[in-house]
Amino acid sequence: MGQDCSDLAEKVSARLQSGGRLTVLTGAGISAESGVATFRDLGGLWEQYRVEDLASPEGFARNPGVVYDFYNMRRAQLKRIEPNPGHRALAALERQLGAGFTLVTQNVDDLHERAGSQRVLHMHGELRKARCQACGAIQVWPGDLDALSHCGQCKAQSLRPHIVWFGEMPLYMEEQIPASLDAEIFMSIGTSGQVYPAAGFVGLARANGALTLEINLMTAEHSQQFQHSIYGKAGEVLPRLLAEITALL
Ligand code: OAD
Repeated sequence: MGQDCSDLAEKVSARLQSGGRLTVLTGAGISAESGVATFRDLGGLWEQYRVEDLASPEGFARNPGVVYDFYNMRRAQLKRIEPNPGHRALAALERQLGAGFTLVTQNVDDLHERAGSQRVLHMHGELRKARCQACGAIQVWPGDLDALSHCGQCKAQSLRPHIVWFGEMPLYMEEQIPASLDAEIFMSIGTSGQVYPAAGFVGLARANGALTLEINLMTAEHSQQFQHSIYGKAGEVLPRLLAEITALL
């Protein structure tokens, strides 16, 4: 990772030692090495499928069966994948930093949790949950979901994937995420910076005086807003960088 990485580890650990908090935002790139397709890389999901058909309320209203099938396929895939060293490094950092650490993810897979992360703010929802359109109940739903599935709370046959679609308000945006952007360090991992409000988080964190760092395979849409960037695979960069940081604490 080079000398600049050690310098960066020193800067981050110095802020942590003086009580600074660390907020991490992850995107599809952190799950790529676990075999989960990203959205906008070559061969990504949005190259194979139409976003407006599968990730919008209008698409769901137009053809719910196609949308149920798409998320059933992605949910079933969860059984065949494992967390990678990047997920595990973040879980270890959470254990070390405790309340000073916040993990926000755009991802809907359960790999952060399966790696040991305890507090994960899934701002775009979760594949393993269903939401009732009648009573609003959110419930764990590990298997296939369809129009006949019954809500565990009100029994209505009105369940949808607990996924935030385009045009819908992401979760945790009232207080938890805004509060987390007041941290002294903001680290973005594996996101192309093309979807708001997540893509705007670096600007908010920076305006609050945070040290901002991006880990990505290549420069992304918003890379120039970060004071520091490390290019490489998250599963390789994170374990080394976070070990360097925690060794200085
Ligand atoms: P994208 O597919 O847009 O971007 C993936 C990012 O991960 C790119 O910047 C890649 O360079 C990077 N990447 C790929 N492999 C990596 C690796 N091994 N290590 C580090 N970085 C890697 O995915 P997101 O930015 O997460 O939302 O997409 C954001 C949102 O758009 C998703 O949450 C989803 C999608 O539409 C909704 O559907 C609402």
